Amino acid sequence: MSDENRIPSRKDLLDIASLSVEEIEHLLKIAVPFKDLFKRSVKKVPALRGKTVLNLFYEPSTRTSSSFEVAASRLSADVTNFTVSLSSVVKGESIIDTIDTLQAMRTDYVVIRHSAAGIPNLIAKHTRASVVNAGDGFHAHPTQALLDMFTIREVFPESAGRKVLIVGDILHSRVARSTSTILNKLGVEVGVLGPSTLVPAARHGFMRGFKDWDEAFAWKPDIVYLLRVQLERQGEPFFPSLGEYHRVYGLTTKRYQRVKDEGIYLMHPGPVNRGVEIDNEAMTYERSLINTQVENGIAARMAVLYWLKPDTGSEARGGAGAKES
Ligand code: CP
Repeated sequence: MSDENRIPSRKDLLDIASLSVEEIEHLLKIAVPFKDLFKRSVKKVPALRGKTVLNLFYEPSTRTSSSFEVAASRLSADVTNFTVSLSSVVKGESIIDTIDTLQAMRTDYVVIRHSAAGIPNLIAKHTRASVVNAGDGFHAHPTQALLDMFTIREVFPESAGRKVLIVGDILHSRVARSTSTILNKLGVEVGVLGPSTLVPAARHGFMRGFKDWDEAFAWKPDIVYLLRVQLERQGEPFFPSLGEYHRVYGLTTKRYQRVKDEGIYLMHPGPVNRGVEIDNEAMTYERSLINTQVENGIAARMAVLYWLKPDTGSEARGGAGAKES
C-alpha cells in the first residue's frame, strides 16, 4: 500500500455524494491488493492491529455485517458485534447515550446501520471514532456502491460509457441512490425501470427512465441491476401484488433468455426475493455477478477501513454530511 498518503484520509464515510472522483478511484485501487490477499493461505495483514471496530446494526443484515466483520479481522482489528436486541437500547437508551458509552470504551471505528436517514452523520459528530454508514433508511449505502463499482470494473475495466439498467424500487432504495451516484460520477450511463409509483419521474435526475423492458432492452444495457422489493419500507402497497410485479418488472424466464442471448451481466445487492425480482434459474447464470459482489464487499470494506483515520485530537470532528442524489 505504498500510495496510502497520496489521497488524504477522511474521518468518516457517510455517503458517496461527498466523495471526490479521486477519492473513489483511490478506494477502488487499494481494494485490488486486498482482494488478491484472498487467494493466499494467510489472508490477514497487520494494518489495523490494536484497533477496535464496533459493528452496530439496528436493522437486519447478512452480507454487510458479516462482510465488515471479515474485513476488519483480515486487517487484524478486534471486532465487537453489538446486538441491538440484547442491548440497553431495548430499555430505552438513546442512540447518543449508547455512543457515549461506546466512546468511553475508545472504539476506533463504528460501522452503523439504522432505519433512520442521517443517524450515521449524527453519530459522526459525537464521536472521535471513524464512522462508516452501513445503510441509513432511504439515504445511502456507500460501501455497497463501492463494491458494486469494483465488481463492474472487474468485468469492464474501461467502465465509462457502459450502461447499467437499474430495475425496481428506486424510491425506497439507498442502494439505488448510492450506486447510481457512483456510476454517474465515474461516467457510467444509468437507466431505470419500475412501477411509476416506485420510480417517479421526479427522481430520475441524471438517470434515463424506461416505460417497459422492451424499451430498456433496446437501450442495450451492459448490466441489469435488479433491486430488492422492500415491502418493509412500503406502508401502503405501491403495486397490486408480488405476482403482478414479477409479471411486469421481474426477470421472467423470457426476459432471462434475452439477457443470456445478449450477454448482459446481472447484479443484485441481496437479499434476493426469488420469484419476485428474478426467476430461480437466473440465479445460476454464468454472467450473474451476485456472488462476486459479496466477495468484493470484503475487499471494498477493507479498503474503506484502511483509508479512514479516526480523530486522535481533543475535539470530535463532524462528517461531510452531503446527501446522495
Ligand atoms: N446488500 C445488503 O445491504 O445486504 P444485507 O442487508 O444482507 O446487509
